[in-house]
Amino acid sequence: MKKILTCIISLLLLNRVMAQQATPISASMNKVKLDFMLDAGGRPEYKVDYAGKLLINVSRLGIKLANDISLDSNFVVINTERKSVDENWKPVWGEVSTIRNHYEQVTIHLKQKNNLGRLMDIVFRVFEDGVGFRYEFPVQPNLKYFIVSDEVTEFALTGDHKTFWIPGDYDTNEYPYSTTKISEIDNRSVVNGSDDIAVKVCPDKYAVQTPLMMKTADGLYINIHEAALVNYSAMLLHVDTKTLKLKASLVPDAVGNMAYMHAACHTPWRTIIVSNKAGEILTSKIILNLNDPSKIENTSWIKPMKFVGVWWEMQTGKSTWNYSNRSDTVGADGQLIPNHKHGGNTPNVERYIDFASKNGIKGVLVEGWNYGWENWFGNWQENVFSFVTPYPDFDVTAITQYAKAKGVVMIMHNETSGSATDYERQMDTAFRFMNKYGYTSVKTGYVGKIIPRGEHHDGAWMVNHYVRAVQKAAEYHIMIDEHEPVRPTGLQRTYPNWMACEAGRGNEYNAFGHGDKPEHETIMPFTRFMGGPMDFTPGILKVKDFTVLPNKQVHTTLVKQLALYVVLYSPIQMAADLPENYEKYADAFQFIKDVGVDWDDTKIIQAEPGEYITTARKEKGTENWFVGAVTNQDGRDEIAPLDFLNKGQKYIATIYADGDDADWDKNPESYKITSYLVDANTKIKLKLAPGGGAAISIKPVNIDIKGLTKYK
Ligand code: NOJ
Ligand code: CA
Repeated sequence: MKKILTCIISLLLLNRVMAQQATPISASMNKVKLDFMLDAGGRPEYKVDYAGKLLINVSRLGIKLANDISLDSNFVVINTERKSVDENWKPVWGEVSTIRNHYEQVTIHLKQKNNLGRLMDIVFRVFEDGVGFRYEFPVQPNLKYFIVSDEVTEFALTGDHKTFWIPGDYDTNEYPYSTTKISEIDNRSVVNGSDDIAVKVCPDKYAVQTPLMMKTADGLYINIHEAALVNYSAMLLHVDTKTLKLKASLVPDAVGNMAYMHAACHTPWRTIIVSNKAGEILTSKIILNLNDPSKIENTSWIKPMKFVGVWWEMQTGKSTWNYSNRSDTVGADGQLIPNHKHGGNTPNVERYIDFASKNGIKGVLVEGWNYGWENWFGNWQENVFSFVTPYPDFDVTAITQYAKAKGVVMIMHNETSGSATDYERQMDTAFRFMNKYGYTSVKTGYVGKIIPRGEHHDGAWMVNHYVRAVQKAAEYHIMIDEHEPVRPTGLQRTYPNWMACEAGRGNEYNAFGHGDKPEHETIMPFTRFMGGPMDFTPGILKVKDFTVLPNKQVHTTLVKQLALYVVLYSPIQMAADLPENYEKYADAFQFIKDVGVDWDDTKIIQAEPGEYITTARKEKGTENWFVGAVTNQDGRDEIAPLDFLNKGQKYIATIYADGDDADWDKNPESYKITSYLVDANTKIKLKLAPGGGAAISIKPVNIDIKGLTKYK
């Protein structure tokens, strides 16, 4: 009798589970529909439709634990909860002044059918332009501390999409992009052909990094990334080139673990952004919306700015970071012997301060100002750099006073050479030094292997280190720009003093590597910039013959360098070239002087990854608009309608265009500048040279300016 009863109860339970399988739990918002299912083994799965068509096929979900039962099967749904949100919020700085956060949320409460009865929630947020989901682990008796060994999450693609990718790597994203079908992804050639300066490790030759940008044969654009990456390692994607399935592949720490969790806790969000318009991928706010609001209450000290720096001259071999040469580091009296090429010397720094002050550029960065540069690269030990000891020819007191008198702020540089634990010990001292000498921001760097434990740049320990540095900087009212960190995931919303980071292949590769291909900047906004701003260092106007190294040049026209200030979003933008080159091209430099760094509004006029992007932005608190257009290696004609301007208002538009004979390779520094009266009905015809661009500044005028003709 007991047996029969147990049998009936089991059948009833099974029925419940079967019923759950048959009827997916769904949530939708306009064209985007999400379905959650459990398969017969109690394995969580999801799929996504867009405009009634399958976008992400049935894909598995779950987490595997080190030396423990995995949280990826044997589940039942014990409850679901729903929530609708439609709110607006204002970022401290950004591409727009107000952001709408509009989603349908469904939380699936799962319980494992074993004697531990572990609980795991999967939270889905469905937006108009995609889906975010994450795993949450409530407080429970049988899951307290646990170690993540793998994440089961899949993204099953429905076709062999065109994909813009860089190879999986645990330590760097400073790669050129490859454009292939999903089925053709294979890292081997790319890894060998890369000239990156950081350490490369990732055994999986079929792993790629996110943000991963794809285009379907039907013209849909799909972007996969993550949001709010804290206390977890970065997600690479393993590509199954046969089944076209992508699977989460987490970056291990020094001992091979992926994350150390303590319930209540959660993973970062996994994001799928989708649109039939490429421009809408660029304006998606899903990643920012999935991050927490600012944890910094008083943000009045956080200020976007442009800056120049004693930097490109070192990158191009004109001067050195080091004060002395390695071979004669210490003289008879124990002093460093100068090498006479040291860039960070007081008169040279004052020259940059004068230049910044004269041209309304707020900041001056100086690299190579401190002890340690004689023997740092590849010298993997702690205490290589001092963060408080200037070289003998860098008079920090005099420089501080000089900068203050000229209305300029100095930007600190802390290269840690991967010595992150040591940097944590020294951070308070370093930030106190910055406060004492009036530095309001710092560029940090993590070149090389992370010591002492051999963590990876993108592993959980370093992920938390970057956040700790930003939190510590906030205590001292310091803004931060990190080089060689993990790629951003929207945390700048939570820590608005996290102005930018590198985590990608910037302009500097044109100085020391194979360079960036002309298509590079038409891909970057769809990939690296999806998570947040980059210190790309645009504005190299002397694009040829600038370095001591042979066969180096910037792979754009001069004008395209101007356009990057609009196309590549960052609240801090370097005017990276040397003052003497800006003086040579003073009329073109005017655009860099004028262009905004913080915006009320952003419009993508046209965009196609790998081919072209034209962006218009309205400067915060003014009626000034700036337009930037970039193209790949192909020249093109395009029309930019100015219909975003206020109706009835007249404006003066200054158009910085490639010269008729311009070409990124053969004649990159050919340009012409013209000015016209324009209004909201004007359509500007732009002719972009191969590897070229266009930049337009548009300012309202209320009087007729003599000699200015209406644009026809
Ligand atoms: C690499 C950074 O990307 C670059 O900007 C910096 O000058 C060097 N490291 C030295 O810190
Ligand atoms: Ca770098």
